[in-house]
Amino acid sequence: MEKRKIIIDTDPGQDDAVAILLALASPEEIEVIGITCVAGNVPLALTSKNARIVCELAGRPDVPVYAGCDKPLGRKLVTAEHVHGETGLNGPVLPDPVMPLRDGHAVDFIIDTLRRAPAQTITLCPLGPLTNIAKALKKAPDIAERVQEIVLMGGAYFEVGNITPAAEFNIYVDPQAADIVFRSGIPIVVMSLDVTHKALVTPARNAAFRALGTPVGTAVAQMTDFFERFDKEKYGSEGAPLHDPCVTAYLIDPALFSGRHVNVTVETQSELTMGMTVADWWGVTGRPPNAFFAGDIDADGFFALLTERMGRL
Ligand code: BDR
Ligand code: CA
Repeated sequence: MEKRKIIIDTDPGQDDAVAILLALASPEEIEVIGITCVAGNVPLALTSKNARIVCELAGRPDVPVYAGCDKPLGRKLVTAEHVHGETGLNGPVLPDPVMPLRDGHAVDFIIDTLRRAPAQTITLCPLGPLTNIAKALKKAPDIAERVQEIVLMGGAYFEVGNITPAAEFNIYVDPQAADIVFRSGIPIVVMSLDVTHKALVTPARNAAFRALGTPVGTAVAQMTDFFERFDKEKYGSEGAPLHDPCVTAYLIDPALFSGRHVNVTVETQSELTMGMTVADWWGVTGRPPNAFFAGDIDADGFFALLTERMGRL
C-alpha cells in the first residue's frame, strides 16, 4: 500500500491523542508532515499544548506542531470540558511539553505545504472542527485540487447527534466551515458517529492497553478511563466510543470500514438542527455524491490494530 503523507488537524482531546499516537506508531503506512491545532474540545492554547504533550509521549518532539484558529468562522466557540476534562487531556499525568510550537499560523502551514508538495500527495486528517481547513480553502482556493483526500471524523446520519439531538460536536462547533469543506470538491472520507459509536472501549479492550505495561499503554488506558465515566452514563453502553482513531486506522487498513458514496450537506441555517450532516444514504435526492460515508467497522480488528500499534511506541 502507498504510504500516506498527512497533516493531522486536531483539538486534543483524549481520542485525538490516541489517533495521533496511532499515526506516529505506523511509519510504514503514514508519514505525519505536521500537526495543526484548532479550538474545539478545549480552547486553542490547550489543544496546541496537548498536541505537543502527545508528540513527546510518542518520543517524537521533531513533529512540527502549529497553532491555528481560536474560534469558529462565524459562531461563538463551544467546548467540551464536560467530556474531556478542563485540560482536554484529563486522565494521565503527563509532563508539560518542552518542544515549542512552530512559528507561523496553522492555516499558512497547510497552504504552503500543499503548494510545495506535488499535487495530490497530501491527505488532510481533521479530527476537530473544520475551521483551519475551511480558512485555508477560503484564503487559497487553488489548494483544493492539490489535496489527495480529506479523511475526517465528524457528522452522523443514523446516530444523528451527540452535542445536540441533531448534530455531532465537530460539525456543530463550526457548521460554516464544514459546509465549505463538503462543497470543496475534494474527495472526502467521513468517519461519523455511525461508525465511532461501534468502536467502544470495553473493559477488556481497555485492559489490553494497560497490559502493554508501557508509558503509552498506561496513558491510553488512563485517558479512556477518564472519558468513559461520562460516555458510559450518557449512552448506557459497555464502554465509550473512541472516535478520532477511526481516521488514522482507516489510513492503515481501510478494509476495517464499509460505507457508501453519498451526498452530504451541512445544515447552517436552522438553530434547531444546526450542524446536522444530511447524508443521502438512500440516494433519494439526486444530489451528486461528495463523500464516502463510513457506516460500519470491524471493531475487534480496529482494537487489535490499535493495541498492537500502541505496543510499538
Ligand atoms: C468528536 O468530538 C470530540 O469531542 C472528539 O474529540 C471527536 O473528535 C466526537 O463527536
Ligand atoms: Ca477531536
